[in-house]
Amino acid sequence: MMKQSTELLDKLNRPLRDLRISVTDKCNFRCQYCMPAEIFGPDFPFLKRSELLSFEEIERLARLFVSNFGVKKLRITGGEPLMRKDISYLISKLADIDGVEDIAMTTNGSLLTKYANELKSAGLRRVTISLDSLDNNIFGMMNGRNVKVEEVLAGIDAAKDVGLGVKINMVVQKGVNETEIIPMAKFFREKGHPLRFIEYMDVGNTNKWDLKEVYPKKQILEDIHSVMPLEPIDPNYKGEVATRFRYVGSSEEIGIISSVTDAFCSSCNRARLSADGNLFTCLFASKGYDLREPLRTNYSDSELIELLSDIWFKRKDQYSVERNTLLEKNVVKNKIEMSKMGG
Ligand code: GTP
Ligand code: 5AD
Ligand code: SF4
Ligand code: SF4
Repeated sequence: MMKQSTELLDKLNRPLRDLRISVTDKCNFRCQYCMPAEIFGPDFPFLKRSELLSFEEIERLARLFVSNFGVKKLRITGGEPLMRKDISYLISKLADIDGVEDIAMTTNGSLLTKYANELKSAGLRRVTISLDSLDNNIFGMMNGRNVKVEEVLAGIDAAKDVGLGVKINMVVQKGVNETEIIPMAKFFREKGHPLRFIEYMDVGNTNKWDLKEVYPKKQILEDIHSVMPLEPIDPNYKGEVATRFRYVGSSEEIGIISSVTDAFCSSCNRARLSADGNLFTCLFASKGYDLREPLRTNYSDSELIELLSDIWFKRKDQYSVERNTLLEKNVVKNKIEMSKMGG
């Protein structure tokens, strides 16, 4: 029996609203917290072309998610999504789907001076650009490829100039870049772009994550508040990952994404589709559900819908809520790398 489309809830009563589509597992950066260079070296077995979902396959799935499950928002991720050839063409196809209210991309920004214009014309609405520091020594070390801050700033300006919405993501790693919190906050307040601070997370198994390297939400807020007072503001929408704050007396804002110290699983309405066609129902999942094989063995739309309904219906992931218990028990969970699953 097919389940009622827009009312499909998982085991924790959460709807599906946000589909994150990874289009490549490759990246031109080697951020230590995501793709450490010593693991993701020249011989790393990245996905082959034939293993990637084609644009037609991605579009077909996205259409099913939007028309049958109440998905309203699509986010293109990677790896670095701008490394996928002809990505603007895919965006234009996704933007044409009836019922899509928002299409965004999470990118490291380094290729935006080249692509911002065509992305905007294709129908992309917003970009979230990752930048962890304004200091070239710190940033060069964190991105693992000595990419300069100026390159990313140029990408940010290019996105703004063509009329894309812009947000900035900064991963905060204690002992590495917490001294950059205030300079980044001041800089992006001045620029008028919302800056979101992300607690360093234990995604994947290769980044040698340690709880001691997490700079907690509470501390980030105290640091900023002591220089530029903040007040909380309401979420933009139900299930927003970032908790938002405004500088008192202004309209500029920041956000904190606190997966480690203040979990937000109870409102998690996101699914992730990897570049090779696996569907993941949690960022910290150990396994996905293969959709490529069904696509390539000619499942009908209603067979695919049934498959997707079953996956969501039995979902009960809430890793961030369970993390502390697992850590206390010394349980080491095998997790898919974020570059493979999509961020
Ligand atoms: P908006 O649509 O602008 O609200 O963006 P978003 O916050 O959904 O997307 P973005 O890619 O900017 O998310 C920011 C970061 O938050 C991601 O890159 C992840 O690092 C983290 N994040 C997003 N979703 C989840 C989630 O479901 N669980 C956890 N633990 N972290 C998440
Ligand atoms: N912890 C927190 N955020 C991370 N990201 C990648 N790896 C981690 C991690 N270990 C962030 C990136 C980017 C988004 C895709 O996820 O900086 O903003
Ligand atoms: Fe690349 Fe983004 Fe991962 Fe850094 S965080 S290695 S830019 S995918
Ligand atoms: Fe969603 Fe998993 Fe993140 Fe919790 S840990 S918010 S269930 S993706």
